[in-house]
Amino acid sequence: MKKQRALLIIKPDGVQRGLIGKIVSRFEQVGLKIIGLKFEWANKEKIIAHYPETDAWFAKVGQRTLTNYAKKGLDAKKVFNTDKDVEIGKIVKSWLVDYMQESPVFLAVVEGYDAIEIVRKLSGNTIPVLANPGTIRGDFSHDTIDLANEQNRPLRNIIHASDTVEDGEKEVNLWFKEDELFDYKLAGEKFMYSLK
Ligand code: CMP
Repeated sequence: MKKQRALLIIKPDGVQRGLIGKIVSRFEQVGLKIIGLKFEWANKEKIIAHYPETDAWFAKVGQRTLTNYAKKGLDAKKVFNTDKDVEIGKIVKSWLVDYMQESPVFLAVVEGYDAIEIVRKLSGNTIPVLANPGTIRGDFSHDTIDLANEQNRPLRNIIHASDTVEDGEKEVNLWFKEDELFDYKLAGEKFMYSLK
């Protein structure tokens, strides 16, 4: 079985609230290996490249927004002036570009078996108010889509974690150079995977 790599970004709200250490320790304590860590004040181009520029991604973000509004009996059109999912996704992305430049962000690459599923589980639901206690978003944030959108901003949800194995590879390559990643053995691996 092949190990996977996931990119984590502690977003400006996580950095500014002093949560870096607490968040990184959650990935360490499950036994994932940190193979890269750094701070970066990202520019606009980097953030545009990070969030996919595809209709599929815009539609996913827009759909999530529309579903949430419908559940609460609210009208998304009042906020976005459109009820087209792709258009809503594009507006959210433009907000993300500003938000992610508010402060340096903290980046980590973690490696391990099923790393993608594990980082998503530990991060919790993208919408903080729906994230379970015990997850990073559930324990450290409580934002909602309608509050965020009323203020013309993205959800402040502390952390970004790669969604799929392919996204993990792409995002790690975007943010880290090969010589910033470290190939080494953790002492615990011998006991976690009963290696000889
Ligand atoms: P992230 O995991 O970085 O991936 C996309 C981001 O878009 C997400 O976290 C949120 O910060 C933001 N986001 C997604 N949907 C919405 C929405 N409807 N309103 C505001 N922000 C959103």
